[in-house]
Amino acid sequence: MSKTALISGCNGQDGSYLAEFLLEKGYVVHGLVRRNSTPNHQRIEHLKGRLHLHESDLTDQGSLTRIMFEVQPDEVYNLAAQSFVGISWDQPISTSDVTGLGAVRVFEAARQLQVRGAGPRVYQASTSELFGDTLVTPQNEETPLKPHSPYGAAKLYAHEMAGIYRKSHGMFIACGILFNHESERRGKEFVTRKITRTVAEILVGRADKLMLGNVAAARDWGYAPDYVEAMWLTLQQEQPDDFVIGTGVSHTVKDFVEAAFDAVGIIDGFDRYVGIDEKFFRPVDISVLLADATKARDALDWEPKTPFKTMVRRMVASDLDEIQVGVPDSERVKLNDPDPQRV
Ligand code: NAP
Ligand code: GDD
Repeated sequence: MSKTALISGCNGQDGSYLAEFLLEKGYVVHGLVRRNSTPNHQRIEHLKGRLHLHESDLTDQGSLTRIMFEVQPDEVYNLAAQSFVGISWDQPISTSDVTGLGAVRVFEAARQLQVRGAGPRVYQASTSELFGDTLVTPQNEETPLKPHSPYGAAKLYAHEMAGIYRKSHGMFIACGILFNHESERRGKEFVTRKITRTVAEILVGRADKLMLGNVAAARDWGYAPDYVEAMWLTLQQEQPDDFVIGTGVSHTVKDFVEAAFDAVGIIDGFDRYVGIDEKFFRPVDISVLLADATKARDALDWEPKTPFKTMVRRMVASDLDEIQVGVPDSERVKLNDPDPQRV
């Protein structure tokens, strides 16, 4: 019998990869998507017909509970969130509502189903933002949690509530404390995608500057398709538990920029093209995040597969393709063939 999964945030970066992963495993996959005046399901367009989509919103308990009862999932992956840290200072209330309370609404809908004897296993998307600007490095499941952003605080509330629901109601709720993970499907406001997109534009002559904020910040960047496997493994354990997921290698934003320019063969790209703009700094930032994912390696048998440089190269290549849609193949600037005139 195939298992049934319900993914909130199905149209997000991770939701789209997880949907692919679970379909590949033979799951019946249901996804929650938001209602938009212009539907934009770009990341899951290729899965249409194989996915069952439901309109809901993490601020709406009624629709969440109704869909939970209709679908009766074996596994629930709560990936929906206002996930951009930077905007969470400007929109702290809605971030708390969606990213914090929204998770509890999902747990509550799952609990209602459990009361009726059909309780699903629940995965909660926790984050390395929970650690805040910690002096403890690397970070693991024992590292104290002291978030520095409204987003991090909302995620901490959800994380704590996951533990409370687990203990109080005997529910299978497990959290993945995931460090940054990126891909060709990353939202364009996140620094990695902003970099790969602009580097691609510089290469084809459509941009001449890459404006950034804190380029000294260091993050443990992995590749999103590797991380959805960890989510699934987390729900296949005998007991619910929380796991740190990351690569164990940290790079600064400046390193990422240099890797992206390297991928297209532009020399000294950082010095030549990067500018610093105050508006991209945050009121408070985290200096360094670095994962100690020993527990996941031992218990889940999970390891990241994709090296940093491979990921950066894939992202730049994909952005080059995207910005040259409509350009005849013979005229396209390609990754292995940077035009020296343009660089
Ligand atoms: P993402 O691309 O921003 O996707 C988030 C999804 O949530 C989107 O599909 C979005 O819908 C949906 N959403 C936002 N507000 C909603 C609402 N009110 N009701 C219902 N859905 C709503 O994020 P991601 O990178 O895939 O991350 C997935 C989860 O992991 C998030 O919870 C994020 O906070 C967490 N996380 C991510 C990382 C990372 O590095 N990527 C690391 C740690 C934790 P639309 O598609 O309509 O915008
Ligand atoms: N977005 C952005 N834009 N960030 C910049 C810029 C810029 O122009 N310049 C420097 N940065 C720095 C930020 O200050 C931060 O230190 C770092 O780049 C990474 O920023 P983001 O890519 O926006 O990601 P994030 O680390 O804040 O949050 C992501 O990872 C978290 C896990 O640690 C998101 O995916 C969160 O949802 C996730 O929980």
